[in-house]
Amino acid sequence: MNTKIWLSSPHMGANEFKNVKEAFDTNWIAPLGPHVDGFERDLADFLGEGVHVAALSSGTAALHLALIMLGVQVGDEVICQSMTFSASANPIAYQGATPVFVDSEERTWNMSPDILETAIEDRIRQGKKPKAIIVVHLYGMPAEMDRIMAIADRHGIPVVEDAAEALGSTYKGRKLGTFGAMSILSFNGNKIITTSGGGALVSNNEAYIKQARFLATQARDAAPHYQHSHIGYNYRMSNVCAAIGRGQMDVLLERVQQRRANYIFYQEELAAIPAIQFAEELTGEYYSNRWLSTVLVDESQGVSREDIRLAMERENIESRPLWKPMHLQPVFASAPYYGDGTSERLFDQGLCLPSGSNMTDEERERVVNCIKACFA
Ligand SMILES: Cc1ncc(COP(=O)(O)O)c(C=O)c1O
Repeated sequence: MNTKIWLSSPHMGANEFKNVKEAFDTNWIAPLGPHVDGFERDLADFLGEGVHVAALSSGTAALHLALIMLGVQVGDEVICQSMTFSASANPIAYQGATPVFVDSEERTWNMSPDILETAIEDRIRQGKKPKAIIVVHLYGMPAEMDRIMAIADRHGIPVVEDAAEALGSTYKGRKLGTFGAMSILSFNGNKIITTSGGGALVSNNEAYIKQARFLATQARDAAPHYQHSHIGYNYRMSNVCAAIGRGQMDVLLERVQQRRANYIFYQEELAAIPAIQFAEELTGEYYSNRWLSTVLVDESQGVSREDIRLAMERENIESRPLWKPMHLQPVFASAPYYGDGTSERLFDQGLCLPSGSNMTDEERERVVNCIKACFA
């Protein structure tokens, strides 16, 4: 059997282990400590725009806290991009609110500004103004933030930016994760950098970040005894995980270049196969970290997305269909949806190729040879 090629595996640099050892040597083995503070500073410095950062146990936890702080409650509605991972939408349900799903557009595969506008107007007509909008930058590709922010601002609805997959991407030269009233990042094991598991909440409103740290540490009031006036959560990042994160920040830009090189390699190697279409950056204003290299497969030319996925599986190469839209998920079957079928088509035709920043030339060759053989 050939050795396994993973979709996206962790890729450690030179300093992570040293930082973890330092955490052990100083006995900071807790959900607080100097590496947590340092990781938050590193992230804030990287993102710029004067943002503040709270390091948390996951991106999902960050999204949950964002919705809590925006006052999302039982019976409220929150607009969410349909084409995404379930973690973008689950925190809406944690709050007893209803997700209203909005379809993607062809251009970026992210939330369609036109459909967003239709959805907002229709919900308002029905007597329920959405409490927030969760927009996602899928696979690192920026959503059309200018138009989305303009629509959201016009209606006075806060945007929560799900940049879980998009650390290192930019839109009009500005880092993704700095556009929303609040934004979230993920450092799950498959992301562009990882802390084994973890996430962050980002905002240029420091009050949100202070409140997030408070809620994430069981909402302890200032008192020598244990005193609580709010429901709290155990959502803080551990100092050991943050030690890994600090090492990963040292290599983040390198990881972006390595992932972008994967994309360019695939694009060049597969250019002669007309059935395979790539997800281009619309203009120079859209800069994707290419967290995952993704393609669409036009089945009418004889080979389907599933044919390719199964051929790769037989070669011990991991690939995945694109995210299955949330409005097609059994768990969200009763949620309102506004769309024109774009995300369904993307899901039917789309495939994520192995995209690790640690892939060898030989591994990338194996991937393209397997795909070329499907069309031979
Ligand atoms: C788009 C998106 N949102 C949210 C998350 C949740 O992040 P986490 O796994 O850190 O909870 C992920 C990844 O897991 C994701 O891909």
